[in-house]
Amino acid sequence: MTRTVYVNGEYLPETEAKVSIFDRGFLMADAVYEVTSVIGGKLVDFEGHVTRLQRSMSELEMVSPVTMDELLAIHRELIAKNDLNEGGIYLQITRGAPGDRDFAWPDPDEVPAGIVLFTFNKPLVDSKVMDEGIKVISIPDERWSRRDIKTTQLLYPSYAKMQAKKKGCADAWLVEDGFVTEGTANNAYIVKDGTIITRQLSNDILHGITRAAILRFAREAQMQVEERPFTIEEAQGADEAFVTSATGFAQPVIEIDGATIGTGVPGDISKRLREIYTEEMIKAAI
Ligand code: PDD
Repeated sequence: MTRTVYVNGEYLPETEAKVSIFDRGFLMADAVYEVTSVIGGKLVDFEGHVTRLQRSMSELEMVSPVTMDELLAIHRELIAKNDLNEGGIYLQITRGAPGDRDFAWPDPDEVPAGIVLFTFNKPLVDSKVMDEGIKVISIPDERWSRRDIKTTQLLYPSYAKMQAKKKGCADAWLVEDGFVTEGTANNAYIVKDGTIITRQLSNDILHGITRAAILRFAREAQMQVEERPFTIEEAQGADEAFVTSATGFAQPVIEIDGATIGTGVPGDISKRLREIYTEEMIKAAI
């Protein structure tokens, strides 16, 4: 099926959508993005994604080409036009196309930001990966140091993911100064003696919208949560491990660098958190 996508104010068939070769997203990865999941044709935690988008833009002095209400309307229109039931919406805002290449940013009054959105189908609620869990490798974290800003500079995470695939694993956990930062496109957790451990928020990791919800639900369910860094060795000795993201919810991790985690099957706490998250998010989707 040819999707209808949104590009700079227009809804177009994906085959007709175009962006300029001078767009700074293309030339310089001068762009921010969000991925919001959709269940039952409704948006999951849209408020969280929009708030983070605004923060990403303000950290980079970008001016949004649309209001946040317009953004919600565009998301809904795309869901309707593409008859999307389960999957997500990718949104990218770039610093626009100044008509040439220049390291200096253009004046936002002269060059409007670019905006692109498209939908994708993906099973989120029932997924084989969730039942089986994933294997991950570790790899040095060689990204830039403002990982709290959700930019499209994704070459290193993409490289890391390929290193994992070469080793028969699904993903990589990035390690800096001996401690895990996060996964290539998700936040990382371990569980030891009933306590959920995940790195505290800082510029070193993306402030996951799913992370915020999962930790809130964990605390509400009287689970112990510790926000602190952990090493690969500690993770390998943990009872459970999992990752969270908008497109994966909570996914169990069953092996890290060849070492089996716990009993080698998804742990009870990871599975319970996934259940709670799915249930609550379906209720609150808009
Ligand atoms: N990635 N950490 C990184 C580096 C990420 O790229 C993501 C999300 C997350 C999880 O954030 P959230 O829970 O808000 O999705 C953590 C998206 C899904 C992506 O790049 O496709």
